[in-house]
Parts: sequence; structure tokens; C-alpha cells
Amino acid sequence: MNTYLWTQHFHANQHRFTEPDLPAGDCALPMAIALPLRESLAVFQLGESGGGTRLMKYVRLVVSADRLAGYEEAVGLFIAEEQYHARLLAKSVHYLGGTCLEKQWSNSVFRWLRNHFGVEFNIQILLTAELIAEVYFGILYRKCNDPALRRVCHKLLSDEMRHIAFHTEFLRERLGAMPAWRRWLWRGQFRVIQRVTAVAVAWDHRRCFAALGVRPWEVAGMAFKTGERFLRRLGGIQRLWGVRPVQAALAP
Ligand SMILES: [Fe+2]
Ligand SMILES: [Fe+2]
Repeated sequence: MNTYLWTQHFHANQHRFTEPDLPAGDCALPMAIALPLRESLAVFQLGESGGGTRLMKYVRLVVSADRLAGYEEAVGLFIAEEQYHARLLAKSVHYLGGTCLEKQWSNSVFRWLRNHFGVEFNIQILLTAELIAEVYFGILYRKCNDPALRRVCHKLLSDEMRHIAFHTEFLRERLGAMPAWRRWLWRGQFRVIQRVTAVAVAWDHRRCFAALGVRPWEVAGMAFKTGERFLRRLGGIQRLWGVRPVQAALAP
């Protein structure tokens, strides 16, 4: 895993985005859209807001492997980027006239799963959330008419696509050390968990998607495709720094 390139990327990415103005309550979207959108964004905001303590603890257990030297620093920068997303999403929720959440059922399930089954599973669950985020922010970018929110969504989408590539490199490294039968089982359980999560998120955020003119099963279908694409990339030979272009996620 080329942790040097990732560290460079995360450092440089701290200065690539200029935030749009997001004054609290200033969004001009009609209430029929703003209300479900802010409720939905508040759930994603909560998901981005973890401190990463447990993840860093797991990471320290695997960084002794030669090919993972520098991974700890890269993960620290990745967590800082997610925390920035949380702050940006909090501003977006306030911009829409909403308030942030302190607890929500799907977020609690995600956190519990991430924290109880070791480093690969922690990264797998993070990755499952990133794959959903790719679909989610892609839909919001395409369907939401507010320029400031679209810029936020574009920023989050492009970062999440790099996070997917980052986690893919790590998992390829770890799965490469497993026998073929274990890799096959891993792919099976990944597919089941990713699809169940996609359906749950599509249903849980259905009011937001409906306000934007998208049906829950369309969202789930997009998320299934994103999961299959990830599995192909995980198994195939991928060029170094294999980040999918943002434009590809924005294609209708
Ligand atoms: Fe994020
Ligand atoms: Fe992410």
C-alpha cells in the first residue's frame, strides 16, 4: 500500500476547497424539500462525527507489517478529513434551518458493528458507509437546486471517492494474505452486508429521496451497482491511486 501518496494527498486536500457561505436558516429551497433534506443530512452528519479512537487503536495493531508502514499517519489524516465533513454538514443542516442529532438508530448500529470485530471489519463497515455516501451525495448534487449545497455535495462526493480507493488498497493488502476460500467468503459476507445496508438507508431516507424525485428502490439499485464495482476493483489489477473520477458518479 502506498501510504506515502495517501499522506501527501490528505495533506494537500486540506487546502483544495473553498467553503461556500452557509448562513444559518438562509437556504431558499421550499420547505417540502428543505425539511426532509435537513433531517436526512443530520443523520449523515452524525455518521461523520466520530473521533476515530477505536479505529486508531486497531490500526496500531496492523501497522507493524512492512507494507503498511505509514498507514497510521494516513488514517489519522483520513479521520481528520471525516471530522471536517462533519463540521461542513453541520453548517449545511443549520443552513437548511435544522439542528444536528446526538443519537440515531442506524448510526448506533454502524458504530457498534465497527467497534466489535477488529480492523478489517471496522474498515469494511466504514467502506460500506462510503459506498452509500457516493450514491447519496451524487443524488443530492444532481437533484438539489441550491448552489451552495451542491458545492458541499461535490466536495463530499470527491473526498468519499478517494476514501473508497484508500480503503480498497488496505483491504486488497489484507485479503491478499488470505487463502482463496477465505477471500471468497469475505466477498460473500461483504455483498450481503452492503446490500442490506443499502436497502435500510434507501428506506430510512425515503422522504428526502422522494422530495428530490428519486424512489427508494432506485437508490438501492444504484448502491448495489456501486458495491459490485468495488468488488471488481478489489479483485482486479488496479492502477496505483485508482480513484474513480467524480464525473463517473454524477452520470445520470
Ligand atoms: Fe465523509
Ligand atoms: Fe469518507
